[in-house]
Amino acid sequence: MASIRFGDLLVSAVRLDDPLDDRASELHPVELRRAATFASGWDRDRFLGGRLAIRSFAANILSAAPRELVLDYSCRNCRSSGSIDHGRPGYSARRGGEPVRISLSRSGPWCAMVGAVGPGTTAVGIDVENSARVRFAGFDDVVLTAAERSSLAGIADPEATRVRARLWTRKEAFLKVLGTGLLREPSTVEASARNIEGIEVMDIDPRELGMPSGYTAAVAFSAGSLIESRRLG
Ligand SMILES: CC(C)(COP(=O)(O)OP(=O)(O)OC[C@H]1O[C@@H](n2cnc3c(N)ncnc32)[C@H](O)[C@@H]1OP(=O)(O)O)[C@@H](O)C(=O)NCCC(=O)NCCS
Repeated sequence: MASIRFGDLLVSAVRLDDPLDDRASELHPVELRRAATFASGWDRDRFLGGRLAIRSFAANILSAAPRELVLDYSCRNCRSSGSIDHGRPGYSARRGGEPVRISLSRSGPWCAMVGAVGPGTTAVGIDVENSARVRFAGFDDVVLTAAERSSLAGIADPEATRVRARLWTRKEAFLKVLGTGLLREPSTVEASARNIEGIEVMDIDPRELGMPSGYTAAVAFSAGSLIESRRLG
């Protein structure tokens, strides 16, 4: 797992194709039940691998053992929280403890995560995408604001794909901070600037996290300081 520290934020990426062996037993029963609903074995293993990765990532931040963490997810839509299988991720070192601010995104065999390691950040979000995935008919209508669509007029590929992937990852990272996900339409989010409705957004170079070229990533966070960045290896 390669990690970079940006002030109060820790960002990591990991490939999910390691065999799961019996490690799935480290997960909560609700996670195993959700895994059993996937029709494709590849999707199931990516889900399980991502949940194992984020649990280890959270345990590292909390200086706790992964198996002992308490699952503390929350969903703004159905207003559930605690040991639920979906929504904004959270883990705490003990029941009733303060959950670590954390977020995850999978793309292909990759999983990227961000966590707040200082007290000043109240929510975080991350998104990573295979950049080529934004090249589909109707993307601009579904994802972009009118201002973003007009700023793309006259820009040709490969720059146009780069800009679309950049806007898309910023929007998804921002929507994860809000906790709405795509229940809020991305075409209502203006993502050209690095501050979206008071939430800071930072573009990440996935190659710095050990990922191959062809991916785009962004992190969003609600507060906290960005003093320096440091590669942790
Ligand atoms: C969040 C969302 C945009 C991510 O979609 P994606 O690009 O396909 O997937 P990513 O790999 O980038 O991110 C998936 C992760 O986002 C996180 N996530 C899901 N919902 C979230 C939310 N409301 N807020 C913050 N993070 C969320 C989870 O960690 C999830 O990982 P998991 O699959 O292990 O649970 C999408 O899942 C979504 O819109 N979810 C909300 C839907 C919802 O609320 N439905 C109602 C349920 S009652």
